[in-house]
Amino acid sequence: MTKGPAQPSGQDKKLQEKLCEKGEIPQHIAIIMDGNGRWAKSRSLPRVAGHNEGVNSVRDIVEACGQLGVKFLTIYAFSTENWRRPKDEISVLMRLLLKALRDERDRLYSNNVRLKTIGDLSALPGDIQQELQEAMELMKHNTGLTLVLALSYSGRWDITNAMKRIAGEIETGKIRPGEIDDKVISYHLSTRGIPDPDLLIRTSGEMRISNFLLWQLAYTEFYITELLWPEFRRRALYDAVASFQQRERRFGMVSEQLQLKRKHAAVSYVERFLKSVSGN
Ligand code: FPP
Repeated sequence: MTKGPAQPSGQDKKLQEKLCEKGEIPQHIAIIMDGNGRWAKSRSLPRVAGHNEGVNSVRDIVEACGQLGVKFLTIYAFSTENWRRPKDEISVLMRLLLKALRDERDRLYSNNVRLKTIGDLSALPGDIQQELQEAMELMKHNTGLTLVLALSYSGRWDITNAMKRIAGEIETGKIRPGEIDDKVISYHLSTRGIPDPDLLIRTSGEMRISNFLLWQLAYTEFYITELLWPEFRRRALYDAVASFQQRERRFGMVSEQLQLKRKHAAVSYVERFLKSVSGN
């Protein structure tokens, strides 16, 4: 069976092609999915209906990201703080997650998606832990989009764990305190090997990071939309990517430095090319 994301069709294909021609597609998108409860409330429905519809948004966004060539998509599915919600709602969310994993597993697999998780999985019910392990094992050789589920996750939890691991390595003499730098810290976070997000999307208009990828979002572009998560489908994703493409990512530098950097990169590319064709 050939694996790969289902191909977009008609108008959607045109929109995706336009986006790819216009500029760079972010290689890592992170999403804070918010507003399921409000979506349900505005329709006089129980909160669970909002979460249910939210799963449909997840499906659509995962597929569209795969088609666009996004390499990593990290979604904040359940935060450490979400354990403070009423017990009934937690149980509904867990059942929904389990159902979604079971229902979507084969589709994700044939769409060439690789699955990863970040967070304290040991806090999740046993059947979910097992389903996640099986799904990750099944998809581990896939080469398309990596879908990272943040479950029982918080940025402070992540950083605290990294600090503990680094302290352990100092204790055993593996590293010296003076050697701790950005790279050492990133290596000990749960996102090891995953590039920092280029774009963070948050739905429902809230202007907060909510203890998401605190270290990893240092230079990420933020896109906040008033849409509630169940309303956020691929067209809204394209708007977010189009907005990202208009940003100038300076990483602390000034515009002129960036222009110079681009010029140097282009010159060295041409030099390498000429060298390779001349055989020297
Ligand atoms: C925020 O809405 C959403 C969540 C806390 C959970 C998101 C979960 C899903 C979309 C379903 C399961 C996930 C996967 C990966 C299949 P909210 O309840 O905080 O909304 P509100 O702020 O309007 O109350």
